[in-house]
Amino acid sequence: MTTKIILDCDPGHDDAIAMLLAQGNPEIDLLAVTTVAGNQTLDKVTRNALAVADIAGMTEVPVAAGCDRPLVRAPRVAPDIHGESGMDGPQLPPSVREVDGRHAVDLIIETIMAEPVGSVTLVPTGALTNIALAVRREPRIADRVREVVLMGGALHRGNWSATSEFNIIVDPESAHIVFNADWPVTMVGLDATHQALATPEVIERITAIGNGPSRFVVELLEFFAKAYRESQHFASPPVHDPVAVARVIDRSIVRTVGVPLDVELGNGLTVGMTVADLRAPADDASRTHAAVDLDQERFWGLIVDALERLDDRLLTPEE
Ligand code: BDR
Ligand code: CA
Repeated sequence: MTTKIILDCDPGHDDAIAMLLAQGNPEIDLLAVTTVAGNQTLDKVTRNALAVADIAGMTEVPVAAGCDRPLVRAPRVAPDIHGESGMDGPQLPPSVREVDGRHAVDLIIETIMAEPVGSVTLVPTGALTNIALAVRREPRIADRVREVVLMGGALHRGNWSATSEFNIIVDPESAHIVFNADWPVTMVGLDATHQALATPEVIERITAIGNGPSRFVVELLEFFAKAYRESQHFASPPVHDPVAVARVIDRSIVRTVGVPLDVELGNGLTVGMTVADLRAPADDASRTHAAVDLDQERFWGLIVDALERLDDRLLTPEE
């Protein structure tokens, strides 16, 4: 049984790897890729998404552009981590694909409304602007979506401020809407994704695959490693976004705890913090869950397997 997903992202090095995992894994049916401003401006992340779609051979998957800024706050981007292009490192040929004519919010709504109830999982790996607008514009999607499995937030520390993670602090108001809509939410935050480290051994394994998509990933990771070393003092870079896709493929790869979650909207030190109420005992029946642990071996196994399955299409435009 495959799981239908919509991947809403801001490529982004790790978003790109999330796209490749979603396309390369046989248990995922990727219905659409939608983009949102975050790691870079909307035009840049959309261009990157189209290039990754080429590399992954996503001939049937629409790629649509969404919101170019957060709901309330001024836009902010992350060139220290992702470079000026949003995906610095690999040289990308111009995309052969066209962006879908629909706004991402419309495509998300149309897709969910057209599929059977409970069949579509939303996987946001950027700011939550498109997802928040979609559920405000068409509240019925809350009952139709199977679950929202998002990369963002954290239980114990931030990466963009002491308390707050990038995807949430970029657009806390949208995150607030998404965490409080009446659908199941799994927050795959830094507690799990800081365990998804692309160590030299991991990069060696990916290099050994030797096809186009794996070469692309190695080039991404080389830039990402340097950026994380210099700006965040990481020995190896955390590859956040594919952890959310991995959770959809195999729930047991990411251990979660059922806990009430909300988002801080003030303007003080903790803006964008995902606040977990850990006073009550963990509750499996909770509407909101937070990731606490990652099975690293099986996670990288999924990435390697997906890259091996993808066709060798990169940088061979004559094909
Ligand atoms: C998240 O922020 C972005 O820079 C990454 O793509 C990831 O989605 C990690 O905090
Ligand atoms: Ca991202």
